[in-house]
Amino acid sequence: MNNKEDERVDTGVKEPYFWNPRTHEFLGRTASSWGLILLFYLVFYIFLGGMFVLTMYVMLLTLDDYKPTYQDRLVTPGMMIRPRGEAMEILYNTKDTESFDIYAQTLNNFLESYNNSLQVQNNDECPPDNYFIQEDSGEVRNNPKRSCQFNRSTLEECSGITDRTYGYQKGQPCVLIKLNRVIGMLPGKDGQSPYVTCGAKRYKVGQDEWKEDSDAIGELAYYPPNGTFNLMYFPYYGKKAQLNYSQPLVAVKFLNISLNTDVNVECKINSNTLKTGGERDKFAGRVSFKLRITSPKN
Ligand SMILES: *[C@@H]1O[C@H](CO)[C@@H](O)[C@H](O)[C@H]1NC(C)=O
Ligand SMILES: *[C@@H]1O[C@H](CO)[C@@H](O)[C@H](O)[C@H]1NC(C)=O
Ligand SMILES: *[C@@H]1O[C@H](CO)[C@@H](O)[C@H](O)[C@H]1NC(C)=O
Ligand SMILES: *[C@@H]1O[C@H](CO)[C@@H](O)[C@H](O)[C@H]1NC(C)=O
Ligand SMILES: *[C@@H]1O[C@H](CO)[C@@H](O)[C@H](O)[C@H]1NC(C)=O
Repeated sequence: MNNKEDERVDTGVKEPYFWNPRTHEFLGRTASSWGLILLFYLVFYIFLGGMFVLTMYVMLLTLDDYKPTYQDRLVTPGMMIRPRGEAMEILYNTKDTESFDIYAQTLNNFLESYNNSLQVQNNDECPPDNYFIQEDSGEVRNNPKRSCQFNRSTLEECSGITDRTYGYQKGQPCVLIKLNRVIGMLPGKDGQSPYVTCGAKRYKVGQDEWKEDSDAIGELAYYPPNGTFNLMYFPYYGKKAQLNYSQPLVAVKFLNISLNTDVNVECKINSNTLKTGGERDKFAGRVSFKLRITSPKN
């Protein structure tokens, strides 16, 4: 049988590979050969590094600190609710304070920066129903830009000021809705502010079978009146340019929602410039969530 040892060809001359004292070769190369190789790689890597730094520098020069270089044009932003619950479900028991305290706490924290005192301190009182335009004049930046007051008190029954539980205890919960920020977006024209409407969500219960909880949703109240996102809060110029920006909110209060049953709700934006998503983008300009308020009879 062939053995590995036997396969080795003996050339007769056995030169040590690691260090050859006869030719002064180290790992098969002389000192000058090694030197050239090292020099080559040194120059090569310095060149590569230089290229990298240069392209990075040129790229950064083209970026603007204050606004994104690339942004999809006129996409309708998504909407979000507060409190969000777990998986967009607001579930609680009117008799169990702990079960809705977390929602009230979330809203308290969220609305803290909207306190009238802070709004008056940080922001301007703007003329409503007009865009608050603060363009830069050419290269001269008009920064930082001012923002408009959104007083917590404009949310009235849903402000948490008069009713510390935001209606949760009475089975008339408030849900806050916000439109995701898009820099430069103009959400309405001809002085018409976009507004939110909520209703029963159409959902699938089987193959080709749809259902909606229209009878269960009850009457709704919107704050500010008509559920508008006033035009004065737009356009948004970005976090860096508009330091004290307070995102406008709409609160929806469920005045007579059915208890002890799931209610699937969908809220959407109504605007004369933004389109709500169709089949292609279900989340554009709309948000849906589930409410289930348990209230034991005794
Ligand atoms: C905001 O107002 C609420 C209710 O009026 C109050 O409890 C809270 O302490 C205020 N927060 C700040 C930061 O002023
Ligand atoms: C916000 O509230 C303060 C007083 O709390 C009031 O002076 C101010 O006009 C209000 N701002 C707006 C925009 O309603
Ligand atoms: C933001 O709020 C701070 C604190 O009240 C205020 O000093 C500053 O002038 C505000 N900045 C802008 C751009 O509105
Ligand atoms: C709410 O909408 C109604 C009807 O469109 C309008 O007459 C009313 O002025 C609006 N209220 C506010 C505060 O915008
Ligand atoms: C509340 O809703 C129930 C049905 O869910 C209805 O019978 C009742 O009349 C409603 N109450 C008011 C004040 O709308």
